[in-house]
Amino acid sequence: MIPRGRVLWSIGGLVVAFLALQALPYGHDHTNPAGNVEPAWASRQARALVVRGCFDCHSNFTTWPWYSNVAPVSWLIQRDVVGGRQALNFSTWNKPQANAGDVASAVQDGAMPPSYYALLHPRATFSPAELTALIRALAPLSGPTGDQARPPLGAVIRVATPGGATPSGR
Ligand code: HEC
Repeated sequence: MIPRGRVLWSIGGLVVAFLALQALPYGHDHTNPAGNVEPAWASRQARALVVRGCFDCHSNFTTWPWYSNVAPVSWLIQRDVVGGRQALNFSTWNKPQANAGDVASAVQDGAMPPSYYALLHPRATFSPAELTALIRALAPLSGPTGDQARPPLGAVIRVATPGGATPSGR
């Protein structure tokens, strides 16, 4: 039999530790970078599918959920967004995108969007028809990779109004 006082002290210790985690600076920076130069999407629908499935981690238009403020979940989200934007950023399509060649295959293989993300974001769950459309939307973006990843001239569009980047229904 564990003495009740000790249990209460343990719970208190956990609460204090949890609160201390919240004070750490990492994971609190939720400013989205300015600037938006997107690929030339085949259609509005094509873009909308990519917004649904990819923009939270691969664009400058991350929607930060309330739990992105709660450590240690906030650290995981921060890591996803920073790592995701580094790997591929649909908002900086005027810059070389080393992984552009893999956008369609990453979805085809089921690697992207990550399954844990789809679980938490129902809008990132696609019907078979939507999945086909999403892959089709991404396929034209699969240009050369590595140092050659600059998009061909004229293959970028500038979206001036950030409002246009977050269509209703997100
Ligand atoms: C929850 C965040 C998140 C979402 C949503 C997401 N990605 Fe990613 N993605 C990442 C991270 C983090 C990396 C880099 C590290 C890695 O490879 O796991 C990455 C890497 C990639 C890469 C680089 C090659 C590779 O497979 O590692 C491609 C291509 C990619 N993502 C495509 C997509 C596409 C297309 C979508 C939407 C259908 C998408 N991602 C949705 C987080 C995400």
